Amino acid sequence: MPRTTTSKPDLPASHADFPTLHVSTHPAVQHKLALLRNAVTEPKKFRELVREISWLVGYEALADARLRSISVHTPLEKMQGHELADRIGLVPILRAGLGMVDAMLELMPTAQVWHLGLFRDERTLRPVEYYNKLPNSTTVDLCLILDPMLATGGSATAAIEVLKRWGAERIKLVNLIAAPEGVHAVQAAHPDVPIYTAALDRQLNEKGYILPGLGDAGDRQFGTGRSD
Ligand code: PRP
Ligand code: URA
Repeated sequence: MPRTTTSKPDLPASHADFPTLHVSTHPAVQHKLALLRNAVTEPKKFRELVREISWLVGYEALADARLRSISVHTPLEKMQGHELADRIGLVPILRAGLGMVDAMLELMPTAQVWHLGLFRDERTLRPVEYYNKLPNSTTVDLCLILDPMLATGGSATAAIEVLKRWGAERIKLVNLIAAPEGVHAVQAAHPDVPIYTAALDRQLNEKGYILPGLGDAGDRQFGTGRSD
């Protein structure tokens, strides 16, 4: 039998009560989100919007990446410029996180990409790991986990645990839509992991879908939803 509802934690009233949560307030993000949520948005447009919103949220998530000084010769004179000092690792959670990778690589072209395959068991809502290509020890300074949806938080928590076992010391979670239940779960288990999202939605339904949400992010990107 499908699990009915996730037990409701004592949820804070607003995102101001989630200290590790950053919700974008940028008008461009809000505009694109409404298009993304719309049930009639086709997969091609949906993928474009995932990419565009990921760029904007990713830009905010990378605001404190570390820099080092470098010397630059402009056509007119020599100056001190900067280059990225942090080695960035992008960790898209398959499948839906794949749509966020290109945008993040545009922002950080030297980032490494490490894929993690997790799917949610529809009955238990628990994550099942099916793919992991991480090398034995970490090769990056800052890991960004990419997944459009933070619902119960099971997948994100599992991904963070994999990365911590790998040796990652600085981890950020980048989502497009988060549910309070998921934010609460990640924050309780990993208060050291900041969460960046385009929206904090109201709640989960009895099947673990985010309300109002956008439906199934993987199906909507890859056109694999119900055909009836
Ligand atoms: C979705 C989503 C997250 C997960 C979120 O993936 O992309 O990975 O659900 O739910 P949670 O917070 O309750 O764990 P899904 O399992 O549907 O796999 P898919 O990306 O392959 O469609
Ligand atoms: N995964 C999705 O793709 N959508 C939800 O609403 C919840 C989990």
